Amino acid sequence: MALQYNIIMSKVLVSGGAGFIGSHVTVELVQAGYEVVIADNMSNCDLTNYNGVCRILGRKMPFVKMDFCDAKAVHKLFKKHRFDAVIHFAAYKAVGESVGEPDKYYLNNLTSFLNVLEASREFGTNVLFSSSATVYGDTDKLPVTEASERQPATSPYGNTKQMCEDFLRDAVRAYQGMHGIALRYFNPIGAHPSALIGELPRGVPNNLVPFITQTAAGVRECLSIFGDDYPTEDGTCKRDFIDIVDLAKAHVCAVRRMIDGRMKENYEIFNVGTGRPVSVMELVNTFQKVNNLKLNYKIVARRPGDVVAIWADPTKANEELGWKAERSLEDTLRAAWLWQQKVTPAK
Ligand code: UD1
Repeated sequence: MALQYNIIMSKVLVSGGAGFIGSHVTVELVQAGYEVVIADNMSNCDLTNYNGVCRILGRKMPFVKMDFCDAKAVHKLFKKHRFDAVIHFAAYKAVGESVGEPDKYYLNNLTSFLNVLEASREFGTNVLFSSSATVYGDTDKLPVTEASERQPATSPYGNTKQMCEDFLRDAVRAYQGMHGIALRYFNPIGAHPSALIGELPRGVPNNLVPFITQTAAGVRECLSIFGDDYPTEDGTCKRDFIDIVDLAKAHVCAVRRMIDGRMKENYEIFNVGTGRPVSVMELVNTFQKVNNLKLNYKIVARRPGDVVAIWADPTKANEELGWKAERSLEDTLRAAWLWQQKVTPAK
């Protein structure tokens, strides 16, 4: 008689799992052997990425439509599933909008995370918070390490990232048995190589790569490059563009570290970047080259609030998480274009 094994898989909740980062993380988690429940209020996305995730994984993924500001609903979900870890993505993320509507950002981003923390404390769930390099603000000490001092936030959005990091740090400090990791993303770009999931901004994109791909697709007329008079080699800003699949894999490493009890401290922070600065102009040129097309662009005035340059020192994540960015900028920009062509309505 064949022996039967009951393998108990660790269960992970991905809040905001129908979005750009959440969908890629779900795929990597499931492929690494985790059981995943996706929850999303669908306020900033449609079902495209959810459907894509199900197609990549070849099965219908558990999905709960819910708002993380609803404390009762969050409690109920945690009680039902007893998650081993939660990855919290459910938040508003438009920097400019947050300046005009700070209350919307504070109310949503802080309330939802407090509810996640409260439920995690009660049910002993490990917490992974999706933070951002925006917490480093404008700094000239580059590259930034996790020990680099955070600068005052330049937007309510950035402020919510700093505050949520502090909520997590303090909760872990106060409540025995709690563990948390904050991952500070640099500039996530690209799409899954299958072109079944990717970035789907609503309206006019704020971020560089979706604006580039939409311009190439004819959805936007012309890309504006914000400033060519910065003190860099070609005068444009420099960023650390991190491939979305690489970024997603960092989450698997972090979740594994928490669940397997391998953390060195109960609260840890990791930069998730490549460590390689790339200028806006360099990125535009690489996009044109690898996809063999010409982009309509013009140089315009600087965008208020942009920092000249920021890139990560990813040594801590490399050594402690055993994670490293692997995909080339060329492959990432090919994937971004493939995805855009898939989602652009035929003319
Ligand atoms: C912003 C946020 C960051 C967030 C990231 C991804 C801040 C200060 N930045 O980063 O927290 O994680 O988005 O959502 O909070 N650019 C153009 N033309 C465009 C768009 C952008 O030239 O149409 C330039 C910008 O001036 C900048 C670079 O491209 O130099 C990258 O911009 P963007 O993609 O918006 O990301 P960040 O502002 O770096």
